[in-house]
Amino acid sequence: AVFKDHGLSVDLVSTSETNVTVTLDPQANSLDESVLQALVSDLSGLCKVRLIGPCASLSLLGRNIRAIIHQLGEAFELFEEQKIYLVSQAANDLNFTFVIDEAQGDRLVSQLHDLLIRATAADPVMGPTWEQLYAPRPVESGEEPWWRRRREELLSAFGKRDAAYVYDLATVEQHARAIGSMKSLSRALYAIKANSHPGVLRRVAAAGLSFECVSRQEVERVRESVPGLDPDRILFTPNFAPRSEYEWALAEGVRLTVDNLYILRAWPEMFRGRDLFVRIDTGQGHGHHQHVRTAGAHSKFGVPLFEAGELAAAADAAGARIVGLHAHTGSGHFDVPSWVETAKALAGVAAGLPSVDTLDLGGGLGVPDRPGRAPLDLAALDRALAAFREQHPRFQLWLEPGRFVVAAGGVLLARVTQLKGKGAFRYLGLATGMNSLIRPALYGAYHEIVNLTRLDEPAEHVFTVVGPICESGDVLGHDRLLPPSREGDVLLVANAGAYGSVMSSHYNLRPPAGEITL
Ligand code: LLP
Repeated sequence: AVFKDHGLSVDLVSTSETNVTVTLDPQANSLDESVLQALVSDLSGLCKVRLIGPCASLSLLGRNIRAIIHQLGEAFELFEEQKIYLVSQAANDLNFTFVIDEAQGDRLVSQLHDLLIRATAADPVMGPTWEQLYAPRPVESGEEPWWRRRREELLSAFGKRDAAYVYDLATVEQHARAIGSMKSLSRALYAIKANSHPGVLRRVAAAGLSFECVSRQEVERVRESVPGLDPDRILFTPNFAPRSEYEWALAEGVRLTVDNLYILRAWPEMFRGRDLFVRIDTGQGHGHHQHVRTAGAHSKFGVPLFEAGELAAAADAAGARIVGLHAHTGSGHFDVPSWVETAKALAGVAAGLPSVDTLDLGGGLGVPDRPGRAPLDLAALDRALAAFREQHPRFQLWLEPGRFVVAAGGVLLARVTQLKGKGAFRYLGLATGMNSLIRPALYGAYHEIVNLTRLDEPAEHVFTVVGPICESGDVLGHDRLLPPSREGDVLLVANAGAYGSVMSSHYNLRPPAGEITL
């Protein structure tokens, strides 16, 4: 009756002895703040009310859905890290619905699709794949990637190898210069965790960027690769590192970020008379996957906003000066306003810290993973940050991207080892897999895959592209449309310059792909 009084129509309901959960579909109801507040206030006379949202409802549709529930085990695993607020199964047995956080909706839909709906060649129900129908041909999607233009050179540099990362340093330099020429920035740093190949570091330094490092070994790599680099151009931002690493960094004269009040309180004598950056957790995470969103209580990074008020006293007690605030909210996203939001949140903290003159907004700048997708609008980001600076002339701004600088400049090449069909599935085996590139297995990341040997032949077959590692997760690409391929062909995995080689392993004692530069 209360819902009816407010003209609201309930969509899904689930009940237990203590709880009744209902959903309101915003497309069927006008759910503005005042309507919801009035509803909550009337319901509060009858029960304890909690409003959850924004949510998405995600439905599996099909006849006799109950009969396939036993097959959904793997699908349920996808929900492991997510809260499910409500599950409902329609009485007509045509759908099975989950209500989850709205932000998770798109990702779960695409993962469930990958899991439950497999494209097979000439599938009578599903028809041709989306990729078969709409995959943009390179010419339609704008600029040709460097590896198409330099195919012959790539193949000859690859020689008789089985697998290798190849970096086009000119492309790396072009991206470094794009960041370096942003007018709103006083300093652009390169986060070397994305790719620490010495040749890459030298090019990035030559393009005028400074460096952001997260371990002693990364700092040492920069200093060996770029001799004579002023230590002031290195920002060292360790997380839960041992005390000795901070002592070492201070002795080396590199700039240091602390990301925990513990450090100032437990080891105050180390920081007397020092200038420091402090990493703040702004509470707002962004990024292509849960594992790379670095904000909020579940994330181990940074001083939370609710503790920021204690920073001034802790720094004073240690005799340190906080000159910069830092935040990195996540990796691989395209949300221009988010960096401005970060700057505003840091400026809010800096209001209580008069010695702060620098705000480092972290990295996170996304790179499109599929041809035809829009790149990050760097000019728009530059304008938005310049507008922030005009309003807050007290601060200089820094950015420290990793992926943006190196992703497109690197590819992974690997030779075809074996092919097989299994039922409706066709597998194409490569000489290397998750031991060289773990991103698809770890994050469900998409990397474009082409047959470099047969680049101009028509793509006719749908393959699951796998590596030689003893794990079912050793898949570099699902349902990839490729030309008929043969043992010995060279396949190219695109956009592999960032978080590729640096995350590789010797799992199964198989050496990961080496690195070559062009
Ligand atoms: N600054 C800090 C403090 C960071 O933690 C990171 C990345 C960056 C800058 C650079 O972020 P980028 O611009 O590259 O997004 N392995 C994951 C990415 C992990 C990023 C970790 N931190 C992946 O393959 O997507």
